[in-house]
Amino acid sequence: TENNNLAETDEIADLLSSLPKEKSWRSGYVYRYQGFWCPENQIPAVIAFQKHFLAQKTDTILVTLPKSGTTWLKALAFSVMNRAKYTPSCSPLNSVNPHDLVPFFEFGVYANNQLPDLSTFPPPRMFATHVPYPSLPDSIKNSGCRIVYLCRNPFDNFISLWHFLSKARPERLGPLLLEEAFDSFCNGRHGGFGPFFYHVLGYWRESLERPEEVLFLTYEDMKEDINSQMKRLAEFLGCPFSLEEEADGVVEGISKLCSFSNLKDKEINKTGRSLPYFENKTLFRRGEVGDWVNYLTPEMVDRLNKIMEQKLAGSGLKF
Ligand code: A3P
Repeated sequence: TENNNLAETDEIADLLSSLPKEKSWRSGYVYRYQGFWCPENQIPAVIAFQKHFLAQKTDTILVTLPKSGTTWLKALAFSVMNRAKYTPSCSPLNSVNPHDLVPFFEFGVYANNQLPDLSTFPPPRMFATHVPYPSLPDSIKNSGCRIVYLCRNPFDNFISLWHFLSKARPERLGPLLLEEAFDSFCNGRHGGFGPFFYHVLGYWRESLERPEEVLFLTYEDMKEDINSQMKRLAEFLGCPFSLEEEADGVVEGISKLCSFSNLKDKEINKTGRSLPYFENKTLFRRGEVGDWVNYLTPEMVDRLNKIMEQKLAGSGLKF
């Protein structure tokens, strides 16, 4: 209804006209809003999220940059939390895309310019976002709720993003040139929600300060040993695997259910669409570490390595 309308079109238009903007890698523009590059269509939802979302202590918020393994993290966290309710063979993941089980604030919950009815989410609730730490609503920072951050090395993150946005780009715009996208990524503009190091370091520092409330995971650690990373996740979420569960293979059952090859082959992930602009099948490409070697020149690698060294210096974070 009209009363529930979240943002006045005029207000948003005024705001947008005051912000720096760049051509998006897909179509339209990204705007520099509060220090990060936000796709224009998500700005009203981000503002509504900041204004209206009230976190509860029992909430879990999954946070990523686009293309760092969000789909995988949603599947894992959902399965770990709900394992008493669903065994792998009767999990909703067999017929539902992970993005429909754990909605994004900016693409789902607040996306329709309507105040959402959050009473349909019984606690413990789980949501997701790409918004950087400084721009989260205060209630998420102060309620004692849990934040799980997943990041991926910038080389693979960039290549995955380039593929993804290339596919979603309207043909009339021509191809997204790798060199141009890379230059923009290195200059901190990213395809959305970056700069990369601003995003990653914000959550990294918070995880060092408040390890009970902010868990920092990497895609590379998960690829190397998913079972031990999942045990960390379960412990953090307050539902550690019991010895009996471990002996019964519950951990392996969930990691198999959520594996790239298993999810990729589900009908819903071959033919469905759960996010605006993107078909589910584009969420599953290769799912590996190190694919960037097939795309980046030695000069590009050198450039990004230098930036990384400089940005991560003294942080304790390494890729
Ligand atoms: P690649 O493009 O390198 O293959 P997001 O979910 O944040 O959009 O990230 C997508 C990336 O994660 C893609 O990387 C995709 O293939 C990979 N991915 C999707 N599901 C996965 C899974 N279950 N396990 C591992 N990687 C997965």
